[in-house]
Amino acid sequence: MDKLIIVGPAKLSGSVRVSSSKNASLPILVASLLSTRPVTLKNLPRLRDIETMLKLLRNLGAVVTQDERGTTIDSANLSTFSATYELVKTMRASFLVLGPLLSRFGEGKVSLPGGCAIGVRAIDIHLDGLAKMGAKIELNAGHVQAKIDSDDRRLHGGEIHLSFPSVGATENLMMAATLAKGTTIIKNAAREPEVEDLGNFINFLGGKVKGAGESEVIIEGVDYLDCASSGQREYEVIPDRIEAATYIIAAAMTGSTLEVVNVISRHLDTVIAVLRDMGVNLELDEENNLVRVLPSNELKGMHVDTAPYPGFPTDVQAQLMALAMVAKTPSVITEHIFENRFMHVPELNRLGTNIFLRGNSAFISGNYKLKGAPIMCTDLRASAALVLAALVAEGRSDISRIYHLDRGYEGLDSKLKSLGVNIERAKNGL
Ligand code: UD1
Repeated sequence: MDKLIIVGPAKLSGSVRVSSSKNASLPILVASLLSTRPVTLKNLPRLRDIETMLKLLRNLGAVVTQDERGTTIDSANLSTFSATYELVKTMRASFLVLGPLLSRFGEGKVSLPGGCAIGVRAIDIHLDGLAKMGAKIELNAGHVQAKIDSDDRRLHGGEIHLSFPSVGATENLMMAATLAKGTTIIKNAAREPEVEDLGNFINFLGGKVKGAGESEVIIEGVDYLDCASSGQREYEVIPDRIEAATYIIAAAMTGSTLEVVNVISRHLDTVIAVLRDMGVNLELDEENNLVRVLPSNELKGMHVDTAPYPGFPTDVQAQLMALAMVAKTPSVITEHIFENRFMHVPELNRLGTNIFLRGNSAFISGNYKLKGAPIMCTDLRASAALVLAALVAEGRSDISRIYHLDRGYEGLDSKLKSLGVNIERAKNGL
């Protein structure tokens, strides 16, 4: 297993380009199963989760090719409607294939999902919605088997009120509704930018989605998708707002001047507001999709609660905690989305902090002087927080289990190196 060695304290300089969004790319790849025509995605990030998803699509019988135009997925002829445990266990987003398989073929079988160990991450909202659209669902031996009994084997539209604005459930149901009979209205839908991007992609394929990115999404079912009618040849996925936030925080923590390129700053409104309240000096150039981070005076602590979009993203909670460690005054961060998302705290404390947890809140007194130490990644965003902390820690930090980072950050070590960080990737834990 690879590990990262960072010698701090670091100063960043120059410009870093944010890759395409992992969390937008994954459902978009899945949605390509809805189309009988090949579809090309221009700018997929090179990540382990994307490779896993491509493997899953290939396992289902899709033909995936890669060339200078991008990645083309041809789902005209699938050989199975079943997603096996080996792939689903490593990545929760694999569960999203159930909606499109049911929608297009009238059946699907998917193992119960795994993914990051950040909580129970139930799928009841997905299944309730699919059942309302006419799917017969059975759970047995660790998998979900769904089919449609009606003669035409098509789901039907209807009104679905989500008990919580789950991102995955909203996406699964939008895809299920795309080829359903009639109109589906999803109420209390997740409003994340990745949901909006999926809606745009379904429309690019020839579907009829309105309101994606708002709390009510209306999907008019169509008989088939004909992406040739959209007039565009390739689809471009939105930039990764979580990666952007991570680099912005890296610069803020280290008192650096950094240009972060390929950022849609409106996707980060809440994050930017919190950072500015803490005293981070940011310049936004929305026309050119740029955020400039400039050195600031003393940073102040904050009280932040994670919440569904447009609230503060749970995926930036760990990185914000890293920033709070160097603020001069105390902070409290409360996690409301996942019940086990503070696994970075004991690791951060190994660097010389005394963050303590009570219930779903973390108390960070701030103003810490960090010292490098061996630390271990536990999940994707927790790993990002460890890297950020290692940037400000005095001396060497060895960060192990970085396969978590490779799931979601394209070229993190090479990007940081190009910004002047003393960072090396040691193969096989050397
Ligand atoms: C997606 C993101 C993840 C992000 C999360 C919240 C992807 C690939 N992953 O995950 O990075 O942290 O949104 O912004 O896009 N829940 C239920 N029942 C359900 C579904 C969800 O109880 O049927 C609960 C989960 O256990 C969790 C909360 O709802 O506590 C949020 O889950 P959800 O919004 O579905 O997140 P994901 O789509 O898994």
